[in-house]
Amino acid sequence: MDKIIIEGGNISLKGEVIIEGAKNAVLPLLAATILASKGKTLLKNVPILSDVYTMNHVVRGLNISVDFDEVKKEILVDATGDILDTAPYEFINKMRASIVVLGPILARNGYAKVSMPGGCTIGSRPIDLHLKGLEAMGAEIHQENGDITATAKRLKGAHFYMDFPSVGATQNLMMAATLAEGKTVIENAAREPEIVDLSLLLNKMGANIKGAGTETITIVGVDSLHGAEHGVVQDRIEAGTFMVAAAITSGDVLVKDAIWEHNRPLISKLKEMGVEVSEEDGGIRVKSHLKKLKPVTVKTMPHPGFPTDMQAQFTALMAMVKGESTMIETVFENRFQHLEEMRRMGLNIEILRDTAIIHGGGKLQGAPVMSTDLRASAALILAGMAVKGTTTVGKLNHLDRGYYQFHEKLAKLGAHIKRVSGE
Ligand code: UD1
Repeated sequence: MDKIIIEGGNISLKGEVIIEGAKNAVLPLLAATILASKGKTLLKNVPILSDVYTMNHVVRGLNISVDFDEVKKEILVDATGDILDTAPYEFINKMRASIVVLGPILARNGYAKVSMPGGCTIGSRPIDLHLKGLEAMGAEIHQENGDITATAKRLKGAHFYMDFPSVGATQNLMMAATLAEGKTVIENAAREPEIVDLSLLLNKMGANIKGAGTETITIVGVDSLHGAEHGVVQDRIEAGTFMVAAAITSGDVLVKDAIWEHNRPLISKLKEMGVEVSEEDGGIRVKSHLKKLKPVTVKTMPHPGFPTDMQAQFTALMAMVKGESTMIETVFENRFQHLEEMRRMGLNIEILRDTAIIHGGGKLQGAPVMSTDLRASAALILAGMAVKGTTTVGKLNHLDRGYYQFHEKLAKLGAHIKRVSGE
């Protein structure tokens, strides 16, 4: 498997970097295309990522035509024929996020059979809220031999309160409710920008959704949806990762097309540390002088709190800042594995359940490390740029799920980084 090799220390990233469309937006958008029984749906600004190819397979497996033009970064979906109702294990198993096809298949066909996603390295991640919400809308749910089956001739609008604002459950229920009879109200809904992006596409397809981006989303069901055209929102996590890359290398980088509003929680913590962050016409500029930064305490929360998907990258920065920083991870259990890897670089940390105390600014050195999940892989690469010596990062399959041309973009900014094919 490929490896990334970084010669770290004494580099300051400088220049401009371009951000792709958001992985976490395009996956549910692809699931939404299942709902269009008339006309084709065109998605633009699609990132070229392995997770996108996996989702394309899932949708194609339903007898839907999916045409990915990688040069134009566009996907054209034609779901106008009769669609199948089964999403098989081989794909669901690859990517947990594909569970968001459950709601659209059920809403369109009255029956859906989707494999139960397994656990994953960042915690047990149940899907009880997805299922309870569909049940509230009148679906009969069964779990058998590793599959979930859901049946409802036509879903009925319902009031559903989520005891945790789950992103995936909000998306699944929002999509299911577009074709339900009557009004659905999702309370304590997730408010992530990717939820708003999904509602924008669904409304263009003929749905009637109000309140996306707030904690109460109201959906009035319609009889059918049609194809539409939509540009995927910029990836706030990729943008945030480059913002931290600039901060960790005492750099000066313009993250082009990054959206200030979407990155507010990260920006506020970077500023508290002493990083200069400013809004420019073309995006967000980040300038820093690593030696002058101060330690901070951060707690991950659902949006608009500090994103769990920036936790790993931010802890890499904390590791380089002199003093004691604290990271509290409240969204996922078991999401500190990158810090265990960073012990190999000499990091001094204490981890107690959801809290990591990071004694930063010590003598860290390059070392061979392994990615343990998607954001961990980015964090280890960022750390590798900041410490002296050679760092090799393995298991890049995680990185390729969510970052397009990551090492090329960093190299263009001045990093000494290359990717080599391994045995
Ligand atoms: C999405 C993102 C992921 C991000 C996460 C939180 C995509 C493709 N992935 O994942 O990158 O890290 O949001 O911002 O958009 N939970 C339950 N029951 C449920 C559903 C979730 O208990 O039915 C729990 C999970 O175990 C987890 C927490 O809620 O602890 C957050 O999960 P959720 O918001 O659903 O995240 P995902 O949609 O899986």
